[in-house]
Amino acid sequence: MKAIIPAAGLGTRFLPASKAIPKEMLPVLERPAIQYVVEEALAAAASEVIIICNDDKPELVAHFSPSPDLERSLHNRGKDNLAAAVRHAGGLPVSFTRQGEPLGLGHAVHCAADLVRDERFYVLLGDVLVPDNRLLARMRSISDKYNGASVIAVWAVPDEEVSRFGVIDGELVSGVPLSERDGSEGTQDDPAVWLLNTLVEKPALKDAPSNLAAFGRYLLTPTVMSILAHTAPGAGGEIQLTDALVELMQSEEVYALEVGPDEGFDCGTVADWLDTNIRLALRDPALNQRVRQALAPS
Ligand code: UTP
Repeated sequence: MKAIIPAAGLGTRFLPASKAIPKEMLPVLERPAIQYVVEEALAAAASEVIIICNDDKPELVAHFSPSPDLERSLHNRGKDNLAAAVRHAGGLPVSFTRQGEPLGLGHAVHCAADLVRDERFYVLLGDVLVPDNRLLARMRSISDKYNGASVIAVWAVPDEEVSRFGVIDGELVSGVPLSERDGSEGTQDDPAVWLLNTLVEKPALKDAPSNLAAFGRYLLTPTVMSILAHTAPGAGGEIQLTDALVELMQSEEVYALEVGPDEGFDCGTVADWLDTNIRLALRDPALNQRVRQALAPS
């Protein structure tokens, strides 16, 4: 299955930092965010990783290209670990497809239509991380169980954030939602799966059918590409993937898999990016102490 990573957006919520650096290239600890996303797709044995890019983001291409001069000078200085890290990033097998204008996430995904043809494919948002790299395999096993249906990952968001996301309405078909578990249970045991009735993009809280929001990982059937070919601009004047998924539900079953709050990390806004860096630094033995000190009340 191929993996599409849309990374051609404007990143307005990160301006002015994203003026000359793509927001997907901002570091999360020692790596740019998008490197985690590429590594996640490769860990799921994606047969090809396609980054949707544009001419204003040559840094993405540069990051995934070899840097023999830098490697050599690192070796010459005895910094073999850093040379290996540079070689690793430059050798990750990715390809690039251009989105001429940032016309929306649905449009970005459709830019890879000729590459996926009649296969199911993954979509991984370039600004959302799943560092344990296990989610795509779980989504695939649910898709396989339901005859190759589309599966989207969702997580519970607080009431005040519901209006920022695409929110699901569906029937629980297996598992136990995290909101109904006691805190000691593992988030990946018997995960909740819903058969969807619809998805509502950025609803007001009073109109939201649930607080379960799409969070940036999709396994989709090729029908989505045919739908995106005629999807009209929706919310914000952009061609929305959500609108194509709502249309898909008229002809195919679509499922949602709940992921836990510690599995995924959003880097799309300054606050989320900070939160992600802090939480991942706390998991890193080399940084934990330093971050705790910085956060301790003075
Ligand atoms: P976002 O809405 O989070 O990113 O899209 P954005 O549009 O860049 O950011 P804001 O809203 O202006 O702050 C999720 C992912 O989809 C990509 C983005 O690059 C991001 O990684 N995207 C979005 C595209 O590739 N093309 C688009 O037209 C829109």
